[in-house]
Amino acid sequence: MSPSGCCSLHDAIVAEKLTKYYGDFLAVDHISFRVRRGEIYGFLGPNGAGKTTTVRMLCGLTRISEGKAYIYGYDINRELVAIKKLIGVVQDISNLYMELSCYDNLMFCAEMYGVPRNKRKERVMDLLSFFGLEDRKHVKFKELSKGLKRRLAIAAALVHEPKLLFLDEPTIGLDVKSKRQIWNFIRKLNEEGITIFLTTHNIYEAFRLCNRIAIINRGKIIAEGTPTELRKKVSGNKIIELQVSPPIKKSAIFDSVDGIIDVKIGHDNTICITIDDTIAALEGILRMVKKLNLEIIMLSLRGADAEDVFIKLIDKTEKNIGFSTGDD
Ligand SMILES: Nc1ncnc2c1ncn2[C@@H]1O[C@H](COP(=O)(O)OP(=O)(O)OP(=O)(O)O)[C@@H](O)[C@H]1O
Ligand SMILES: [Mg+2]
Repeated sequence: MSPSGCCSLHDAIVAEKLTKYYGDFLAVDHISFRVRRGEIYGFLGPNGAGKTTTVRMLCGLTRISEGKAYIYGYDINRELVAIKKLIGVVQDISNLYMELSCYDNLMFCAEMYGVPRNKRKERVMDLLSFFGLEDRKHVKFKELSKGLKRRLAIAAALVHEPKLLFLDEPTIGLDVKSKRQIWNFIRKLNEEGITIFLTTHNIYEAFRLCNRIAIINRGKIIAEGTPTELRKKVSGNKIIELQVSPPIKKSAIFDSVDGIIDVKIGHDNTICITIDDTIAALEGILRMVKKLNLEIIMLSLRGADAEDVFIKLIDKTEKNIGFSTGDD
């Protein structure tokens, strides 16, 4: 069977007005995007945004309500058998067997995916070695730490050598070290030519790992681009962080200062000032500090970071968000 031919040779995924209703509830709302072969594409959004539902539609695990999607040119609605050979999926809930060892779990997956009998052992040993699990090959899945469980789950999705790997929140619940290890594995897999579609609610994860990112909120893509492009959407904006003594309690004192877009005062009394004219804002702030006879304890100027970008982009659509912005 050959691909349907809707997509270019550069596309790994093409989604056209992809939509999912659960009953009357619209969980994914006519989203369109393209994932290029060889890239790490991030799907970033808060809880309930529609990330898992999108992954499940793209993998043929749940029916598409409306719209179309193609994987390497194959139509999901009609050519799922061909697609299954090309994709690996690591869902948010692992489907490995608690009582089986790492080795036996992978051998079982290899059999299920139809890896030829004479190739299974070598493939499984390669994966155990790649993920640093060789010395744990006889350890039962249930006895592994969370981080190692996640590694084995990714290994299991790779037994049949897919070209495209879906990772649904691959680092959720992991400590910082395990998270970074998983990031390194994802980068290494990508360097070996595997296209990655990754969902996350962690802004820094998306910015550090992904070539391009779609931001999804309430079932809709509200922004898309490279990390640099997304930063540029709020470009011009810089942040001044200021601590003074005695501390200021009201942001209104900066109302008359030119070049300022927004002022927030944090719990530690750090004043975070978003500016679009550095000179005017600095001059005005310093004038105000002098006038009020305040002592400057800390003053720093920086460009907008990932978190600023997202707060800004999401603020355009709504105020209340549930993104994670740190190493949680
Ligand atoms: N099987 C289902 N039946 C009904 N509603 C569902 C079902 N699965 C998901 N939903 C709803 O669809 C919306 C999108 O859910 P989804 O799990 O895709 O979001 P998500 O972005 O993966 O969220 P999370 O970050 O919490 O994993 C949510 O409002 C959710 O409650
Ligand atoms: Mg989810």
